Amino acid sequence: MIEDRFGRVHDYLRLSLTDNCNLRCFYCMPEENYAFAPHARLMQPAEIDHLARVFVDQGVRKIRLTGGEPLVRKDAPAIIRALAELPVQLACTTNGIRVDEMISDIEAAGFAGINVSLDTLQAGKFFKITRRDLFHRVRNNISLLLERGIRTKINVVVMKGLNDDEINDFIALTREWPVEVRFIEFMPFSGNRWTSNQVFTYREILEAVNAEYETNPLPAEPNETARRFSIPGHQGNFSVISTMTAPFCAGCNRIRLTADGKLKNCLFSKSETDLLSALRRGEDVLLLIMENIRAKARELGGQMTGNFENLDARSIENRSMINIGG
Ligand code: 5AD
Ligand code: SF4
Repeated sequence: MIEDRFGRVHDYLRLSLTDNCNLRCFYCMPEENYAFAPHARLMQPAEIDHLARVFVDQGVRKIRLTGGEPLVRKDAPAIIRALAELPVQLACTTNGIRVDEMISDIEAAGFAGINVSLDTLQAGKFFKITRRDLFHRVRNNISLLLERGIRTKINVVVMKGLNDDEINDFIALTREWPVEVRFIEFMPFSGNRWTSNQVFTYREILEAVNAEYETNPLPAEPNETARRFSIPGHQGNFSVISTMTAPFCAGCNRIRLTADGKLKNCLFSKSETDLLSALRRGEDVLLLIMENIRAKARELGGQMTGNFENLDARSIENRSMINIGG
């Protein structure tokens, strides 16, 4: 069992396969000419399998593949096949671009769920956010996942003045589509020029939905990071991830492993433990994992205490999102 000083049992591993991506979202990439990690610095398939087994032996029951964009890695199908053998719930967070090309691998792996990131339903705005003209591809791929009966969520990072006017367009989708739309408060990471006035808060999101729809809170699942709501007559539902205004750290069960094999005990942790180098030197990685998790801060990596409105993003030491994996 992997437990921290606050009695939180860590049984959920978020595993980044690459820091590369086929989109260029302005809030996730630090700059246009960001240098991706060279392939040799990334965990190789056998190393991923080895480390995943160490975590599973310690009680990890869920593994989510993240990126960058996990499905751009050429050996992603082989990695996914190997992980699908483990006694875990396998999930994936993707931008959806390559879902059609990989649908047979996705189906064969028996994913418990796929989260697709999509911040707008307008093709022009999609181009503005991602610098790629691929809106229709993502939208069609969400339909494809649903046709194949795969449990799908849509992640929407809500930013004031950018897409807060589309909240109810996303809600309208849940009428016919059995998806969960997850609205995420905009968070600060290295190089993403976060300012507090761009945060569209949990309260504001709920107010926007309630102006047009009747909403009913759904019971929280264990370790849930989202507050979920149903809407009468809708097949899907929606939720809000309120990291900035109401963090959910008390029930955190998450461990993160970056594509270059560094362990992070929190999305906002300063320190990292280099598991991959230790593994390559033949050292005991389990000891390092236990030490890393024991050092976990109570909340938000110990870096964001107080009101988010007074937060100076430049004071936070962290990686950029593309480099962490979400
Ligand atoms: N704030 C909130 N969510 C973010 N994501 C990426 N960057 C941020 C940010 N700054 C989202 C992605 C993806 C998930 C892994 O995290 O859009 O859906
Ligand atoms: Fe867990 Fe850190 Fe996220 Fe809180 S901020 S939920 S401790 S990963």
